[in-house]
Amino acid sequence: MRQAIATAEVGDEQRREDPTVNELERRAAELLGQEEAVFVPTATMANEIALRTLSEPGDELIAEENAHILLAELGGPAVHAGLMTRPVHGEAGRFGPDVVQRMVRRTDGTHIPPTRIVAIENTHNASGGRVWPLEEIQALVAACRELELSVHLDGARLLNASVASGVPAAEIAGDFDTVTICLSKGLGCPLGALVAGSAELMAKARRLKHQFGGAMRQAGIVAAAGVYALDHNVERLADDHARARRLAEGLHAAGVPVNLEQVETNFVQVDVGTLGLDGADALARLAEQGVGLSSTPHPGVLRALTHLDVDDEDVDGAIERIPKALGVLARA
Ligand SMILES: Cc1ncc(COP(=O)(O)O)c(C=O)c1O
Repeated sequence: MRQAIATAEVGDEQRREDPTVNELERRAAELLGQEEAVFVPTATMANEIALRTLSEPGDELIAEENAHILLAELGGPAVHAGLMTRPVHGEAGRFGPDVVQRMVRRTDGTHIPPTRIVAIENTHNASGGRVWPLEEIQALVAACRELELSVHLDGARLLNASVASGVPAAEIAGDFDTVTICLSKGLGCPLGALVAGSAELMAKARRLKHQFGGAMRQAGIVAAAGVYALDHNVERLADDHARARRLAEGLHAAGVPVNLEQVETNFVQVDVGTLGLDGADALARLAEQGVGLSSTPHPGVLRALTHLDVDDEDVDGAIERIPKALGVLARA
């Protein structure tokens, strides 16, 4: 990847003269089953631009209550798009057509903010990297279409979902109005994300990218990492998933509170609250053992994850050190 970055062909991206950015956008659109894609620095920006392309200020956005766009983008949907956000309860990050059918609001033209967008996240971060089954996505999108609602897919980790389920990314993402994918997570790039959709919506997205301050110059040096990642780092996500499964099983066997059913991709959630530990305290103990976990929106629940810089030896080390750090006695 460093080599691809160093030798990238570049041009002025703002004028759409950077061949490497253009190539990455073409590849991403094809991968996602969409007409066009726009390269942006982060998945947060991709999500925010997508929401803004689909709505008018005063419209309403429905999303799962722990979705990244509601919990981790600093109120971006309200700030950038003037959206009113309506969180819905989900199971494993998912909700069905019945929820949307029940909650959708029609404007009376004067008082009621009309529901405009339904956004889902796949894989769903806060639920532990869970995957939406394709039939559930199709049923939800069909219901939204019937209600004339737009649909956005926060697919920051869509390729994890695709690899885990064996369903091509285009099949998962192709029916959405807008889709985000991130290059800087499991795909291992230093930065970068894409928002994809119809040519008409992406023309709007390009304008917004400029307004958001995301239009760059010789951005091919980072787009080259993205092209490299699409060629080399997608199929290997299965290795991350296998390592996460091994980590989860090893921790579970050592008595660490891990729900094995939750582990579908590269995340392992550890419920330190059930050990009587506070999340921050547990993170500090883990750091002392040289293990870096992170917090989740759920109090007392921490997240371990695997990625391309975590190898089998690291997993073995974590299986040994995490129980020690948390003071868990091995199961008999
Ligand atoms: C589901 C989801 N969407 C979007 C993002 C935002 O990514 P970025 O840090 O590139 O803005 C994240 C980051 O963790 C995420 O988990």
